[in-house]
Amino acid sequence: MSNEDPRTQELVDEFTRRFQSAPTHISVGPGRVNLIGEHTDYNDGFVLPIALYRDIRIALRPRTDRTVRAYSLEYDDWYEFSIDDLKYDEDVLWSNYMMGMAWVLEEQGVRLQGMDAVVSGNVPRASGLSSSAALEVATGKALLVASGQPDAVIGVPLATSAQRAENKFVGVNCGIMDQFISVLGAEDNALLIDCRSLEYRLIPFPAQAALVIGNTKASRSLAGSAYNERRSQCEQGVALLQQELPDIAALRDVTSEQLEAHKHLLPELVYRRCRHVVSENERVMQTVDAFQRGDLAEAGRLMDASHASLRDDYEVSSAALDAMVDAMRSAGGCIGARLTGAGFGGCAIALVEPGSEQAVGDAIFDLYPKATNIWPEIYTSRPGPGAHVLELA
Ligand code: GLA
Repeated sequence: MSNEDPRTQELVDEFTRRFQSAPTHISVGPGRVNLIGEHTDYNDGFVLPIALYRDIRIALRPRTDRTVRAYSLEYDDWYEFSIDDLKYDEDVLWSNYMMGMAWVLEEQGVRLQGMDAVVSGNVPRASGLSSSAALEVATGKALLVASGQPDAVIGVPLATSAQRAENKFVGVNCGIMDQFISVLGAEDNALLIDCRSLEYRLIPFPAQAALVIGNTKASRSLAGSAYNERRSQCEQGVALLQQELPDIAALRDVTSEQLEAHKHLLPELVYRRCRHVVSENERVMQTVDAFQRGDLAEAGRLMDASHASLRDDYEVSSAALDAMVDAMRSAGGCIGARLTGAGFGGCAIALVEPGSEQAVGDAIFDLYPKATNIWPEIYTSRPGPGAHVLELA
């Protein structure tokens, strides 16, 4: 893979310097960006993310005991823990994603061995590109390889394990999307995930389209509490709608027509939250159709509508995200743009005509800092592969 080699060599050298022997494997967990389907995963709905060619990599060497000795290049920090003594550590946040994976795999009956590990990554942190899921998934694969059981937990069960580590060990109430795409992403494809059945379908990413990701670099301080508040507003909506729609179990089961017909059951704010989720699920399926027909203009229109719904009904945008999306849309080759991930900061994504990436980037660097006084970052990526392990000679 084109982006793999220089980083692999650097990581091997770093590991060898730190541990005085060579690593045996490198496990790779990619970050992700969601094309459409925001705040739908915890409503049993649909999402359409891609894995990025940006990832967390762990160079490892198995140990014969149950100790994990890890060095993080990004934090320039060592951490050591025993698989027999896994406790949340509020002083070293990154270590909890690793311990959480050890905890969840052991809980499932996998007997783990320890490892020496060097962790490195190029998924921007706290930017809505799922560096946490990437670290969980890379750690899961690394621990399984170190234990001589690389196939004990793979595919969807690895994704649900990583989500459980984040929910129960790290204590973040996320849905399944990020871990799912990090495990199961596929080159040149988006993944249509049914977050209820956990079935998925590869949707070829159109050859006539490219992506520009704009990182607002704006703080996401509100993200945690507001995320949980949105989740409970959705649950409240379901409970109220069930008075007249007893067969629904989640907002996934509600159509736009049903929501309008039963609107009187809901306080105004809860109605708008529900309207976002219900319409967003419909937009995901319409985007899949549009991709399959090669109708990129329609896909762009749906992305724009998603942003408006997230901004006005779900209220998870921010001045910085709106400024980023405006800057993206001002460029000629931009087909559609929206915030991506949980919101409140982090990144926006633009679907653009291939060859116009530079022009969209220029428009962002020109307009966004004027609107916000913040210098953004820009990335481009085709859909990359899901998590995998490189065996070193
Ligand atoms: C975060 C969560 C995901 C999902 C998105 C919003 O990324 O981790 O599970 O809910 O927000 O779509």
